[in-house]
Amino acid sequence: MLVANESLPTSTYASSRDNCTMAEITDQDLADIYAFAVQLGKDAGNLLMQAMRQRIDGTFTTNPASIDFAEKENSVDIVTKTDNEVEAFIHDAVSKRFPSHQFIGEETYSAGASREYLVDGRPTWIVDPLDGTVNFTHLFPMFCVSIAFAVNGKPVIGVINAPFMNQLFTSCKGRGAWLNETQPLPLIQNPVPPMPANAPSGCTFSCEWGKDRRDRPDGNLSRKVESFVNMACERGGRGGKGGMVHGVRSLGSATLDLAYTAMGSFDIWWEGGCWEWDVAAGFALLEEAGGLVTIANPPENYETCTIPDAHLGGRLYLAIRPAGPGPDETGREAQERTIREVWKRVRDLDYTRPGV
Ligand code: IPD
Ligand code: CA
Repeated sequence: MLVANESLPTSTYASSRDNCTMAEITDQDLADIYAFAVQLGKDAGNLLMQAMRQRIDGTFTTNPASIDFAEKENSVDIVTKTDNEVEAFIHDAVSKRFPSHQFIGEETYSAGASREYLVDGRPTWIVDPLDGTVNFTHLFPMFCVSIAFAVNGKPVIGVINAPFMNQLFTSCKGRGAWLNETQPLPLIQNPVPPMPANAPSGCTFSCEWGKDRRDRPDGNLSRKVESFVNMACERGGRGGKGGMVHGVRSLGSATLDLAYTAMGSFDIWWEGGCWEWDVAAGFALLEEAGGLVTIANPPENYETCTIPDAHLGGRLYLAIRPAGPGPDETGREAQERTIREVWKRVRDLDYTRPGV
């Protein structure tokens, strides 16, 4: 079992209050939970780096075959000893401090048979101990721990620590979104840049290949690839669907995709197939920074419909960065315009789930 470098802070948060709903959580309660979550994120990030250092300094090679990991659904869906140890560390710390809070962690959840959506209105920690596990096994620095705290079904605290990048993202409802605790997000604030007038052209488009690699003519993989090509292709190409985005990026970590959207480094993130622990902390961060999250699949009347909220467990997400006003529109209008332009170009994906 790994040991954290730093001890967790002590706090006056009373465990007799810790099963209350959002309405009953005072500002001070939330501040205490936030402080605890930030320290937990730092400690868990230290554990990830400790494991990475052991790999770098030890006898391991960069050959992924030499790393101790197990397959879950298929050979690209993997879990390492570090995922399990860091999840156990976080779970243990949370249950000692807040014994009546709910806890959903990727590895304990995936080990069970049910794929039901379990988040309800109760105070719930939603945790991915290591997002970007494939990156981690290949020494690609885009991996992180992702810790969210949700009440009334909504993530209100997000802590994301990418220790190899020296990037700690933190947010709490009403208290802003931050990089390394001092830099407010989005990065450019004076003013927050508007969306390009001809978005998605001029935008950075972030997407993920995901884990569904089945070779089916109209399956998720081929629909994703078709959507990526539509977004990248020159304007006028692909029967009018060409988006000519500035760049297509795939970090290999849904959590960091959302964090980079909150920074403003990505304009658009579109993804199907990940789960609530991959996005909960990122949702909290992005919302606090002023971004917008909706559903990945284009609704039938996508040109005129009200923009629906993303379902946390819906596995289909489209996120837009914080945007300032342009000459003829508000930032929100520009975000909605961009969403419709993305929907025009992407295919429906099929990631169903019981109860959602
Ligand atoms: C995965 C990553 C990846 C996304 C997958 C996730 P993991 O999480 O976030 O970018 O495409 O859907 O499952 O397995 O590295 O924690
Ligand atoms: Ca993970």
